[in-house]
Amino acid sequence: MNNKWTLLVSFSLRAFLFSPIVYSFPEEMKRGSVIGNIAKDLGLNVNRLSSRKARIDTEGNRKRYCDINLNTGELTVAERIDREGLCGKKASCVLNQELVLENPLELRRISLLVQDINDNNPFFGKGVIDMEISESAVKGKRFLLEEANDADIGQHSVQSYSIQDNEYFHLSVQSNSLGEKYAEIILNKELDREQQKDLTLILTAVDGGTPPRSGTVAIHVTVLDANDNAPVFSQAVYKVSLPENSPLDTVVVTVSATDADEGQNGDVTYEFSHVMEGFKQLFYLDRKTGVISIKGPVDFEEETTFNLRIIAKDGSGLTSYSNVIISISDINDNSPILIVKSLNSPIPENALPGTEVGIINVQDRDSENNGQVRCSIQQNVPFKLVPSIKNYYSLVTTGELDRELLSDYNITIAATDEGSPPLSSTKNIHLTVADVNDNPPAFQEQSYRAHVQENNKPGSSICSVSATDPDWRQNGTVVYSLLSSDVTGAQRDISESDSMKQNLIVSVRDNGQPSLSATCALVTLYCCCPWCCISFYVV
Ligand SMILES: *[C@@H]1O[C@H](CO)[C@@H](O)[C@H](O)[C@H]1NC(C)=O
Ligand SMILES: *[C@@H]1O[C@H](CO)[C@@H](O)[C@H](O)[C@H]1NC(C)=O
Repeated sequence: MNNKWTLLVSFSLRAFLFSPIVYSFPEEMKRGSVIGNIAKDLGLNVNRLSSRKARIDTEGNRKRYCDINLNTGELTVAERIDREGLCGKKASCVLNQELVLENPLELRRISLLVQDINDNNPFFGKGVIDMEISESAVKGKRFLLEEANDADIGQHSVQSYSIQDNEYFHLSVQSNSLGEKYAEIILNKELDREQQKDLTLILTAVDGGTPPRSGTVAIHVTVLDANDNAPVFSQAVYKVSLPENSPLDTVVVTVSATDADEGQNGDVTYEFSHVMEGFKQLFYLDRKTGVISIKGPVDFEEETTFNLRIIAKDGSGLTSYSNVIISISDINDNSPILIVKSLNSPIPENALPGTEVGIINVQDRDSENNGQVRCSIQQNVPFKLVPSIKNYYSLVTTGELDRELLSDYNITIAATDEGSPPLSSTKNIHLTVADVNDNPPAFQEQSYRAHVQENNKPGSSICSVSATDPDWRQNGTVVYSLLSSDVTGAQRDISESDSMKQNLIVSVRDNGQPSLSATCALVTLYCCCPWCCISFYVV
């Protein structure tokens, strides 16, 4: 399956954001199917994908449809991709995904161009089309038939109609200005109600797939005594624009069709034709008045244009169609969202100014100015945001850190969009500073004195010296040792009467790797007798 699907846009090696890499492949591929090798296509080193935390990300709350295999660099299908469910009748179905790499941060846009496969049959809304045709209808009179719908697009949508052979009607298939096929039956031989009061014909719609799929419906014609006309819409297309979030019951547009007939034959009612179920939850069409009003929340971020096909019917079932195109305009109704994509906490206190400690992504689902976001830190902290690619920022240090002064930072990042009024949000980032063994221990006093008495028991304390080290744990744990413990020297010295004092030198180091040590402290011992100052040790 490798490389079976075309890679549409080839990619210059360092190509940037503005040229997404496009993979084109059919819908409904199995989970795990290979779409292409993105590492190869982007010239990335496969061995570094893991260490660069390569991952597929999406914009906003959208689903992730593909995954990257970190061992091979292959892009695989992660979710069922049903083109009809995702894109309906749109001519081009594009899913935008992003490949994010760190160290250094890189972002590559991936567009999945989902191709239609012929997986839907044409179908008619109902099992039987009921028509009433007057026996006085003249030969050559045309009657529009209800359309078949096919959820697939292009060649896979309905391409032709056929009707079973019969003596009264033949079929004519035409295209309207939008290129949609519709069928009419044309009277071949005049009907005679007294001879045959009804007839049934089978109509078949066929799509253009290989192999083609088809759907059928029965047309039941009741032969009437009276003559009538089909309704006629005042416009073939009604175009309106509507702000998103408009309140319920707001009137969007009123469609209107007139019928030249009198009485029941001229009574026009309106219905949605083949309209996506989701759209029917949002718009209400009044059967009698043709008023279309809002029934559910209309969200620009979900759908920007609605195309509603409306059918008008008169009392005897003659029909005509019109389209209502509703363009939704954006309102600033989404606050920016700040997402911490990566955070190196704790950060060592000796990190150089300019060290990247985190990656922040900001998203705003609104469009244009409403979706333009600025981020800032409004505190006096040694960190700043550096705009990176697209809507990514690097959080970097701007000065030296000192854990012994401040070991925690609570950084508040504010994001504000450019809508009017603007919307904003904040995110707190808690960052801790990790210790580095950068402080040597220090004695509290530079010199100490002690008097050593007679009859000292071994192990008794003579004097205590003390040093402190502000570093953390073992980096701040102090260990003492006696530098000059030359006891014989001491004996020699104190044999002279004016040298009943003895100098000891104590050093201290911390337990860091490597350890730091302090300048030594001098301990002067005053010995009461020559044998008092025999030996010492430090605990
Ligand atoms: C950080 O600061 C914000 C606002 O000043 C506060 O609401 C939040 O509780 C703080 N978080 C921590 C972990 O101190
Ligand atoms: C002590 O400092 C070293 C660097 O000098 C550091 O790697 C280590 O993590 C520190 N130890 C602790 C417990 O913070």
